[in-house]
Amino acid sequence: MAGANQPIGILDSGVGGLSVVREIQRLLPAEELLYVGDSAWCPYGTKSAEEIQRRVFAIADALIGRGCKMLVIACNSATIAAVEALRVAYPLPIVGMEPGVRPAVERTSSGVVGVFATEASIRGEKFHRLLDHHADKVRVITKPCPEFVELVEAGELVGERAVTVVRSYVDPMLEEGVDVLVLGCTHYPFLRPLIEAAAGDAADVIDTGAAVARQVQRRLEGEGLLVVSPSRGGLRVFTTGDVAHWQELAPRLLHDDVEVESIAIEE
Ligand code: SIN
Repeated sequence: MAGANQPIGILDSGVGGLSVVREIQRLLPAEELLYVGDSAWCPYGTKSAEEIQRRVFAIADALIGRGCKMLVIACNSATIAAVEALRVAYPLPIVGMEPGVRPAVERTSSGVVGVFATEASIRGEKFHRLLDHHADKVRVITKPCPEFVELVEAGELVGERAVTVVRSYVDPMLEEGVDVLVLGCTHYPFLRPLIEAAAGDAADVIDTGAAVARQVQRRLEGEGLLVVSPSRGGLRVFTTGDVAHWQELAPRLLHDDVEVESIAIEE
């Protein structure tokens, strides 16, 4: 039986899920968090659903083996490819990402919404079901942004190259009349200042990290697993990739000190 004092396990293809970690820490500061970033296999967005599922199941096993009471799939590609299968396979609460189509459709005045997401997310059946359900009266333009993931994994969040890359994705959306831009990948919020600067007053930018943190809170409350304590919980960060690079990057992304550890994930 899981207890409230066990950690929440969070996974992503790389550092992107740290944007969700920030939101969970803000809302639920007493929770203990274990994070695995699968940088050795990043990006997930260009891989097949089967390959992503294999990685996600192996990481889920590792997190559950470390006593996690809940899993948060802090990666849109992994959510689309694996969350339903994970929920069938594991008895613990599992929260995945929502690409934010519904709030975007509610907010648009022009009737044109832009969704930045990975190729794997956009071709996923779950994503198409979302569009069918929420976006029948709105034009939705989808665009994979593999270079956004590269920039964030490299820690290139400012500077001329990042600005040029971001503009090359945002400008064509604005030309199509988009007035709401959805960040449908957890890496993209780290480029949000540049995306907002490129969009100016023409489009609002939406990401769903805070909504996912609220969903984590609701699920924990519902299961009686929420930590009730005034003390701050800890965060352990593991990567399958280059620890030295992560050790420089993760504190920058989190605006906080954090020790990064290596983890081997066998499929
Ligand atoms: C990627 O690894 O391509 C990004 C994953 C995501 O969809 O959040």
